[in-house]
Formats: sequence, structure tokens, C-alpha cells
Amino acid sequence: MTRVFSGIQPTGELHLGNHLGAVRNWVRMQHETDAVFCVVDLHALTMPKTPGEVRSATLHLSQLLLASGLDPELCILFVQSHVREHTECAWLMECNVSFGELSRMTQFKEKSERQRFISSGLFTYPALQAADILLYDTNEVPVGDDQRQHIEVTRDIAERFNSRYGPTFVLPEAVIPAAGARVMDLQHPTNKMSKSADSPQGTVGVLDEPTAIEKKFKRAVTDNDNEVRYDPDSKPGVSNLLSIFAAATGGDPNELASGYTQYGRLKVDTAEAVIEMLTPIQQRFAELEADPAETARLLAVGADKAREIASATISRAKANIGILEG
Ligand code: TRP
Repeated sequence: MTRVFSGIQPTGELHLGNHLGAVRNWVRMQHETDAVFCVVDLHALTMPKTPGEVRSATLHLSQLLLASGLDPELCILFVQSHVREHTECAWLMECNVSFGELSRMTQFKEKSERQRFISSGLFTYPALQAADILLYDTNEVPVGDDQRQHIEVTRDIAERFNSRYGPTFVLPEAVIPAAGARVMDLQHPTNKMSKSADSPQGTVGVLDEPTAIEKKFKRAVTDNDNEVRYDPDSKPGVSNLLSIFAAATGGDPNELASGYTQYGRLKVDTAEAVIEMLTPIQQRFAELEADPAETARLLAVGADKAREIASATISRAKANIGILEG
């Protein structure tokens, strides 16, 4: 079966873009593939954090993922720092990627521009990500377009390692959702919906109250030609509503458009469809939040399964390099 691996950082709340663009696909994939999903708390440390911040964000995100339908019986869901092999393997990755390759990463350039303290972990971030992926003999990595370069460098590291030390790692491939599947900001519909706090009215949180969701959709930016039509290039706002509506109901944006003559009605119905999709997730989240011990138990099950795979891979890598056994 195809081994799928993906990771998500415990920073900020999950929003509709994360849910429809990533998490919902993960929930589907756990039925169709051999899927491993990881809350990458160590990656979050590449940016400054206050004491305790990562712990609570990791617990919160894990509960959201479980509430969204990730089922520890069907997939492996775990926290990166619970499996020490990730940091051990990251060192092997760092020694097989060049300073030049890491210097070309656009995510590093972007993130370091805005920082006063640029940690070396931010620079070697892709090596830890390569470790995440390669430890699990991953075939496919479902990620957003912004991660394409990191998956490319992961392949390059795997190829270099295999040619230096003999066949060790499986070469992974990025699986990137079609551009039309992206959820855009409700206030700035030519930008992707994002976690950043710049546009709270344009971002719908998975845990937003129904009234807040209604309000955000009512105020969503459209245009003034008053025609409901799916045309992302010339009508980004209306098309975004239609594609969210379609994603939430399993419909088709063009077909849905033909049922509407007014933006107002479309907004109300889209909000209702989103609320209907999120309500059961919010209910399950409240149950999990009230029982952190149960979350800890589920994550320990995931870490045990992950460790079993990762420890075999790291042993193979060390044996192939030829490191004296201790
Ligand atoms: N860098 C990814 C992001 O910012 C998160 C991530 C870490 C990841 N490790 C991974 C994604 C391994 C896929 C596979 O979204």
C-alpha cells in the first residue's frame, strides 16, 4: 500500500483553508493508504516561543485533528518530539545537504527576513523535514504548493545518501492539490486564507461560533456586477464562496452558481453549509478537550507505532554509513 506522510505545525488555530485543503484529505487518505500524520512541534521551535506555548498548541492541534476525523485505528497520528529518531535522523540529513542547497530555500529567505534572531534551526528546517519523511519510507507527501521545494530537497538528500552509502531511503513525491481547491481569504479573495492575524474577518476558524461564521460570510468581499458565476480570475470573491460551498456540500461550483441570482442568498447558504460541516467537529473537540488523558493515550499509541518504523529506518541508515555499534 502507498505510504503517505504529512506534517503540520502547531501554530495558530486551524482554519477553513487548512480543513478543506489538507485535513479533510488526510481523513480520506487514512482509508485509502498507509497514512502517517505528524504534529511537528520541533519545527515550531525554529521561531521564538514562550515557555509552555508549544505544549498547549500541540495538545490543541492534536485534539482538533482527532475531532476532524483522524482515527488512530486507521492511521498513525503522533507528535514529532515523542519519536526521538526524528532529531537523530535530522543530523544525518544535515550532513548530506549542502549549505548552498539550504540557502536557496525560499521559505527560509521569507521567514528570516522578518526575524531579528534567525536560529540555525530555521536554516536547517528542511533537513528535519527530510528526516520526518524519509524515516517512514514515504511514497507520497500531500502538501501545499509552498512545500514543493522542501520535498524536492528531501528527494535530493535521499538520492545523495543512497548513492554515497547504498540503497537506504525511498524517494518520496509531493502530491499538491489543484489550485482551484484552495480556499481564499474572504476579505482579500486573491490571497490564500492564512493563519496570520492580518485578516481575522477573512479567516474562518474551525472552532468559530456559528454566529461569527455567519457574520464573516455576510461581509465577504464580492464585486458589483451582481452575477453569480464561477470565474476565479475575474470574480475571485464570488468564486471563492462557490468553491467553499461546493467543498462543504460535495457539489460542483458551476452547478451551484446556476441556482443563485443574489450574492446575499449565496452567502447565507454557504455559511449554513460550513456551519453544518463544522458543528460535529466542534462537538467532538469539546469532548476531547474535557479529557486530555484520553488524547495523551491516543498520541502514545501513535508514537509507539511510529517509533517502530522509524527505529528500523535509522538503524539501517547508520549501518549503511558504517557507524560503530554501541
Ligand atoms: N514544513 C511543513 C509546513 O510548513 C510542515 C512539515 C514538517 C511537513 N515536516 C513535514 C509536511 C513532513 C510534510 C511532510 O507546512
